[in-house]
Amino acid sequence: KLPYAEPFRIKMVEEIHQSTRAERENWLKNADYNLFNLKSSQVFIDLLTDSGTGAMSDQQWGALMTGDESYAGSRSFEKLHETVRNISGYKYLLPTHQGRAAENVLFSVLVKDGDVIPGNSHFDTTKGHIEIRKAHAIDCTIDEAFDINDTHLFKGNIDLKKLEEVYNTYPKEKIPFCLITITCNSSGGQPVSLENMKAVKELSDRYRIPIYFDSARFAENAYFIKMREKGQENRTIKEIAKEAFSYGVGMTMSSKKDGLVNIGGFIALNDAEIFKKASNFTIIFEGFITYGGMAGRDMAALAVGLNEATEFEYLESRISQVEYLGNKLIEYGIPVQKPIGGHAVFIDSLGFLPNISREEFPAQTLANEIYKEAGIRTVEIGTLLADRDPETRENRYPKLELVRLAIPRRTYTNNHMDYIAAAIKNVYDRRNEITKGYKIVWESEILRHFTVQLKEA
Ligand code: F0G
Repeated sequence: KLPYAEPFRIKMVEEIHQSTRAERENWLKNADYNLFNLKSSQVFIDLLTDSGTGAMSDQQWGALMTGDESYAGSRSFEKLHETVRNISGYKYLLPTHQGRAAENVLFSVLVKDGDVIPGNSHFDTTKGHIEIRKAHAIDCTIDEAFDINDTHLFKGNIDLKKLEEVYNTYPKEKIPFCLITITCNSSGGQPVSLENMKAVKELSDRYRIPIYFDSARFAENAYFIKMREKGQENRTIKEIAKEAFSYGVGMTMSSKKDGLVNIGGFIALNDAEIFKKASNFTIIFEGFITYGGMAGRDMAALAVGLNEATEFEYLESRISQVEYLGNKLIEYGIPVQKPIGGHAVFIDSLGFLPNISREEFPAQTLANEIYKEAGIRTVEIGTLLADRDPETRENRYPKLELVRLAIPRRTYTNNHMDYIAAAIKNVYDRRNEITKGYKIVWESEILRHFTVQLKEA
């Protein structure tokens, strides 16, 4: 078998620039040691997120030129609607400006004060939209997900026992739905198997609780199913994705991931009543229901992107690149979440920097060290991101304290991956000299990691 090679060639390039360590130290200080505050020009390789940072294809750029900007009933909406219906099987579509806007609209209909929403490690904006409504997200992810060395092939799976306990503990009226995030970003870009989705559906049916998907990376999830789940190897990505969606009644989508566009999102669902109610919230928060905060041309590019993202050759090159980086780090002895996730490599900062106490934010400390070393911007998925408990206001210490290296789609080459791995190895080689973390100077009430101000401890 030949090795994989990218199923594309590069038609346009964007310059990026290296800096000196002294410059970076100064910039980081001025950024209050929060990497979100850096200018992109101060970053050489940007692994902050894989969200909205990918490269569009020539077909997508072509579609931009033929977008229909009509306020109501635009052709580009029709095209997007048809594409989403083909991929998901869901009848109704409401575009939104991005994924969290889809959450805002849908949860405005479904989530009430005192509700609980079980699922597999809800993403932070998702949890934010639940908690801001005085409801609770309950994490039912399998325990294997929290052991980075456990090589379970579907570490995004929901633990049926934990889920059933939620169903038995709370009255049905308090559980508006169960949310399955595919792939599960917060547990390391880890997939959920079809078998698990089916079992979650069967269990939830018994309690008459519907399932929704947070489907930001649904195509990457389908790729893992094809590669890892028995009996799925001969099916297409589109067939697998459609079966997955058949276990739920609707989805929220951040199109900035597997939509292969720079901005956008949507809700797709089957229930006419919920669609009507959500339409009202779309009009209030986003825009008329056939554009919901998106330009017509952006909907046109998204329709093309969704089809490209569900092609096997694209997914193989995308996920193999992430794996390539992960395997280099493993080769250097660096502790990472295994198996390597779909969109990112997650470094275990507790294993990497054992000298930093959890009160001093080891993952943020590591992310800052990697930036100072080589101008690579990563992101903390640890205590800062976990926020304080909304009631006790105490720090919540998550089971894992991770640094995420999120790889933008179709953007960097494997030379960049080699550079990243070498830089992180340098930091790893001098890990024992890193003995001080950070303290919070200022933080916001919710989603504090975006704006937190830090100082050296
Ligand atoms: N759900 C998941 C699983 C996500 O990863 C994200 C965003 C969202 C919902 C919200 O979508 O950003 O379009 O509003 N994740 C980005 C990230 C920000 O870096 O992982 P959005």
